[in-house]
Amino acid sequence: MDIDELQAEALAAVADAATERGLETLRVHYLGRRGRITQELKGLGRLAPAERPTAGARINAAKGALVAAIDARAAALAQGQLAESLAAEAVDVTLPGRRQSGGSLHPVTQTLRRIEAIFVGAGYEVVTGPEVEDDYHNFEALNLPPHHPARAMWDTFYLEGGLLLRTHTSPVQARVMERSAPPIRIICPGRVYRRDSDLTHTPMFHQVEGLVVDEGIGFADLKGVVIGFVHRFYDREVPVRFRPSYFPFTEPSAEVDAQCVHCEGVGCRVCGDTGWLEVMGCGMVHPNVLSMSGIDAGRYTGFAFGFGADRLASLYYEVGDLRLFFDNDVRFLAQFG
Ligand code: DAH
Repeated sequence: MDIDELQAEALAAVADAATERGLETLRVHYLGRRGRITQELKGLGRLAPAERPTAGARINAAKGALVAAIDARAAALAQGQLAESLAAEAVDVTLPGRRQSGGSLHPVTQTLRRIEAIFVGAGYEVVTGPEVEDDYHNFEALNLPPHHPARAMWDTFYLEGGLLLRTHTSPVQARVMERSAPPIRIICPGRVYRRDSDLTHTPMFHQVEGLVVDEGIGFADLKGVVIGFVHRFYDREVPVRFRPSYFPFTEPSAEVDAQCVHCEGVGCRVCGDTGWLEVMGCGMVHPNVLSMSGIDAGRYTGFAFGFGADRLASLYYEVGDLRLFFDNDVRFLAQFG
């Protein structure tokens, strides 16, 4: 083949090369050690000496043209690839950002923290106890011997081996008195369990227990603490009343009502037209309960109270169905952010 034709063929092939690999194959084909232009140069020796300079110059010119064309094509291919990836990976900085949705504490957690802050501010210590409890602490140590009829006040989940899921936070009272000496001033927040489920009951809920034991503690102290707490909790001096009641572990016992925060005592659906909302049980710690846990009932007296934190949260946030708190529906929970 004539060198002009060879050069034309090679330049056309280079112009057509679509990839860097294809271009490299062409370079080897024409300029490699056994490439076609290299062969032409090697063949110069077979020409008559007089023809060699012209022919050599012509082949070298073809080689130079091809090298230049390959370099130019390589640069163009690289440029094209860059443009392609820039286009593919382009980010439109003018698009609006995507909002992060922020989480928030569960309404019951917020309520528990508020309650704890109120009592901690008054010098109480926050203590906890086991949710899997033994019969002794959940009942017996609270003046409820086996077969005591008042055990029916709690629909208990029993476990194997004499254990149960605590039905209230009151067993923590006994556990604290067993290991400490007066003065005692504690609250115990935590989960409790009962076989119960409807609008106002869930099988798991949260209680906060309170216990104060010292010399000279009387019912007036109990009233002052409870009324003060209710006022702090609602941030308002809502009327509070004490009704005589019965709990095996307190004597005397009372139930505490706060004036309905929805109708302000007029009577509505929330308070069942009574104008009052029951918020807790309380009383003076029964002397049996003190002595069973090793406290000298001749010297010390105490008061205790217990209430449902979820119930207070439902009244505070005006949530009609207690079960909503535990359905984990984000649309419900997001309202408390
Ligand atoms: N443990 C009781 C309950 O779950 C509530 C209660 C009432 C706790 C009176 C007390 C108390 O400490 O003195 O129904």
